[in-house]
Amino acid sequence: MSEIKLTRLSGSAGCAAKLGPGALSEIVRGLPKQHDENLLIGFDLSDDACVYKINDGLVMIQTVDFFPPVVDDAYTYGQIAAANALSDVYAMGGTPCLALNLLCIPGKIAQDVAQDILKGGLDKAAEAGAVIAGGHTIDDNEPKYGLCVTGIAKPGEIWTNAGAVPGDMLVLTKPLGTGISITAKKLDKLTDEELLPAIESMRALNKYARDAAVKTGINACTDVTGFSLLGHAREMAFASGVTLEISAEKPALLPHVAALAKEGIIPQGAYRNRKYLEDKIIIGEHIPAYLTDILFDPQTSGGLLISLPGEKADMLMGLLEKITPHARIIGRVLEFNGTHIKVV
Ligand code: CO
Ligand code: CO
Ligand code: CO
Repeated sequence: MSEIKLTRLSGSAGCAAKLGPGALSEIVRGLPKQHDENLLIGFDLSDDACVYKINDGLVMIQTVDFFPPVVDDAYTYGQIAAANALSDVYAMGGTPCLALNLLCIPGKIAQDVAQDILKGGLDKAAEAGAVIAGGHTIDDNEPKYGLCVTGIAKPGEIWTNAGAVPGDMLVLTKPLGTGISITAKKLDKLTDEELLPAIESMRALNKYARDAAVKTGINACTDVTGFSLLGHAREMAFASGVTLEISAEKPALLPHVAALAKEGIIPQGAYRNRKYLEDKIIIGEHIPAYLTDILFDPQTSGGLLISLPGEKADMLMGLLEKITPHARIIGRVLEFNGTHIKVV
C-alpha cells in the first residue's frame, strides 16, 4: 500500500469530473456533421459507444473513458477505472476484446503507484476477457487513468438508447450513491470500511448483468455514469421518443448514502446535473429533496439501465438475483406525454 493519498491530488473525482451534459452538447453541436456509411452509431443520440460495421456479420464497438482518482489505493483505482471504461461496451451489448491504457501521472510519483494502477486495470480487463495491448502516458500533476476499449458484436446484437417502447419495464442493476460516497470519504464522513460497499460496486464488471440481459432479450440499454440516473435515463427517453416513469423510492442505495444526502453531502456534479435537467423533466412534489439529490448524483462505474418487455422483467430479475443483488425494477416506459422523464 502506498503512502500517497491519490484523491488529494485531484479536484473532482471519477465520472463527476466529466464536463457537464449542457457544456458538452454545446461543444459537440458546433462541429461539422460527418458521414461514413459504415458508422452505424455515432454520437448523435448520446449512445455509450460508437459502432462501426466491419462486414455483414461483424461490428466493432469503440469507447474511451478516463478520470481522476476515486480512491487512494492505486490498484483499486485502476480496477474501478477499467470496469467503468469496459462498461460502455457492455451497455451496447458487445464483448470487449482489446484495450489501450490512458495514464496521466505526476512524473515524480513513486513508480510502484503507477504500476499498481496499471495492474488494477490489467486484472479487470483480463476478467472481461480483453487484452491491454498498449497505451499512452502523460506527465501531469493530476493523475487520470482509464482505457480506450474495442469490443465486437454481431450487427443484430447491438443495444442502443433508442429501443425503449411503451409497455417496457426499467431495470437498474447497481445501487446509487457512488458520487456521494466518494465525496463523503474525502470529507472524512465515511471510514475506509464504510466506503467498501461503494468500492465493490464500482469495480464490479457489468459483464454479468449484460450476459443475463442477452439471455432474456431486451429493447434498450445504457450505463449510468457521470450524468446521473436521471441524466442517462433522459438520454434513453429522448432517443426512444418515449416517457420514462421512474419511481424515486425504487433504486437500491449504497449504505449511508440516504443519511449523507440528508446531511447535504452532495458532489458538485449533482448540482450541475440537476441544473441541466430541471426544466426538462417532471419530479413529483412529494419526493423529498435528499432523494432527488441521489437521483442526480454522478455515478462512477454505475449499473446498466435496461428497458425490456414487461413480461420478461421477472426472468431478468431472477437471473440478476445471483449476480447483482441490488438490481431493481425502477420504473416503466410510457407513450411520450410531453416530458421525457417523470419521477413519481
Ligand atoms: Co456510458
Ligand atoms: Co449514457
Ligand atoms: Co463513457
